[in-house]
Amino acid sequence: MTARGQWGSRLGFVLAAAGSAVGLGNIWKFPYITGENGGGLFVAIYLVCILLVGAPIMVAEILLGRATQQSPVKAFEAVSGRGTMWQLVGLMGVITGFVILSYYSVVAGWSLHYVMLSVLGTFNGMEAEAIGQVFNDVYASPGINLGWHVVFMIVTVGIVYTGVGKGIEAAAKILMPALFVLMGVLLVDAFFQPGFGAAFDFLFKPHTDKLTAAGVLEALGHSFFTLSLGMGAMLTYGSYLQKSDDALAASGLITLLDTGVAIVACLILFPITFSFGMEAQAGPGLVFVSIPAALSKMTGGQLLSVAFFFMLFFAALSSGISLLEVVVSTIIDKFGWSRGKAALTMGATILLFGIPSALSGAPEGPFSSGWKSLLGIEKNFFESFDYLASNWLLPLGGLAIAIYVGWIMPDSVRRAEFVSGSKYGGLYSVWLFFIRFVAPVAIVILFLYSVGAIDKAWLS
Ligand code: TRP
Repeated sequence: MTARGQWGSRLGFVLAAAGSAVGLGNIWKFPYITGENGGGLFVAIYLVCILLVGAPIMVAEILLGRATQQSPVKAFEAVSGRGTMWQLVGLMGVITGFVILSYYSVVAGWSLHYVMLSVLGTFNGMEAEAIGQVFNDVYASPGINLGWHVVFMIVTVGIVYTGVGKGIEAAAKILMPALFVLMGVLLVDAFFQPGFGAAFDFLFKPHTDKLTAAGVLEALGHSFFTLSLGMGAMLTYGSYLQKSDDALAASGLITLLDTGVAIVACLILFPITFSFGMEAQAGPGLVFVSIPAALSKMTGGQLLSVAFFFMLFFAALSSGISLLEVVVSTIIDKFGWSRGKAALTMGATILLFGIPSALSGAPEGPFSSGWKSLLGIEKNFFESFDYLASNWLLPLGGLAIAIYVGWIMPDSVRRAEFVSGSKYGGLYSVWLFFIRFVAPVAIVILFLYSVGAIDKAWLS
């Protein structure tokens, strides 16, 4: 076995890739940005982005990885030769992964803190308002944020350190199915909440009042974030696949699972939100307030709450692993470091870079109020980097991958790769049309639209 490793089974790949896709993006971020962008129309645009842009690029990334059996920087090198500008795209992906993991770890840390609070019975019998205050305190506390950020990074590094087959695959095999079962239980509970009807309306009726151009870009950016696209994570996972594996079936399954979990998360959280008279625009605290609020007075609620935040932590872990894996496998391929050395060095660096994000929730401080007044913006350090990475860097990376696979990769190689191992090879020309035209054009239009180059009046 080489330092790079291979998947133990096809199911292992699907589970690990789905584990990468399903994470905080689905359960924490999607519901809260849906709330902020007014529901229905935002959800619809997000679904369109997944279908027209995300799914074809998912296939492109996995195929590019499998074709070259290389990490991002080297994958571009393998097809186009050294020293081309395409390697920069690989490099940009690694940097994006680095940035995302640094703040992702902070949110993952909240889930660990909530496991602890649930175990201690903090929420038992508490009113929704007090539960909201608990989140505000957590968000503002440097100690809580830093402590759990360090814990999460240590666990993530530990798993990446032990390698692809043993660590990642073994963890994903148990945790993903467990998460789906628990979400099923919570969905049934949500269905009987008085606010279910209002939540359903909110999510699936198009309300146009809240949606802005920035919201449309956010829907696009989130479709990349949630599918783990645009920075080479799926490319890297695809590089551990064999030619006989059905990459197309796997892509479809991962996309479906991921989208399903995001929608179910909303169908769990918004009925609670409306039943307890809370705000849909609660922001990043949405999941951390509504779940304890629904469970605090229920018999057995404490146990469910422990289980939920534990699963949220594991969903975050399998995603965090994939973010670190991109960075680590690049270092292994490029500099010939051992896996252990690469994992430890990169993990430590990301941990340090995450410290400002861990301090961003404090009401006063260099990375909250200081950062805002320094740059003259509304966003703290954490929010700024989330915005930059999800809304700009990932779609930009996705655009580059679409252009590369659609226009630069030799047709013979691309076609052979597409049909290899798959019973859906006949879809080649349909997919090629999407990857060449639909996805790039959609991304460029949304970029232009959000920098104001396309006049909104002209569109309407
Ligand atoms: N998709 C994960 C989520 O929704 C986050 C994630 C993991 C990710 N790996 C990624 C996002 C790579 C972008 C790129 O929580």
